[in-house]
Amino acid sequence: MMQLSEMCFEYSLFVQLSQSFFICSLLSPHVFHLLLQNLITERLAKDIMKDIGNCDIMVLCVLKGGYKFCADLVEHLKNISRNSDQFVSMKVDFIRLKSYKNDQSMGEMQIIGGNDLSTLAGKNVLIVEDVVGTGRTMKALLSSIEKYKPNMIKVASLLVKRRPRSDGFRPDYVGFEIPDLFVVGYALDYNEYFRDLNHICVINEHGKEKYRV
Ligand code: IMP
Ligand code: MG
Repeated sequence: MMQLSEMCFEYSLFVQLSQSFFICSLLSPHVFHLLLQNLITERLAKDIMKDIGNCDIMVLCVLKGGYKFCADLVEHLKNISRNSDQFVSMKVDFIRLKSYKNDQSMGEMQIIGGNDLSTLAGKNVLIVEDVVGTGRTMKALLSSIEKYKPNMIKVASLLVKRRPRSDGFRPDYVGFEIPDLFVVGYALDYNEYFRDLNHICVINEHGKEKYRV
């Protein structure tokens, strides 16, 4: 495993490189992945298993931003299930939402893909989302799903932004709390750019301008 001094060295190198670019790295890719794997295995997956591991779970991955987090989380849930006598039965489904243009919430959430939500009736649904900002997207999705009377709905979000005027939506399971900045990477995008970055970065004003639509 990499030593802390090596990580710090790599981190400072990476920050220098990326600052001349359009994004600024909060953590080096290695530190990010160590933290992430640790966090998901040690906390999120365990908490989810403790709460709902005895039910059949319908994992609903919110595309596009949630695909990496969802894949990692499902992997860890399966590992816990495999390494214990707690067998969890999971199905994975997808929904595609859109609510942002540039770095601004458009105020209304559009469902632009996925199965008919009526298939969630009576199910134990675990929504897996990348980031909660204003909370509007998640509130709108929850009210769309609730109409179909699922047995239970829980929300896991990798990130939650600290906002001065937050409307108070809080997911059941949260990875990291972050400042109210626009972040990209690990499947999160800015106008479809930067999803392919391996770790999470902040996009700076120069980058926002360059990739604005
Ligand atoms: P909210 O409606 O403001 O809570 O925004 C949540 C949705 O907008 C998420 O599903 C994200 O896909 C997208 N989003 C919000 N903030 C960011 C960000 O910083 N980076 C990338 N996507 C974001
Ligand atoms: Mg999302």
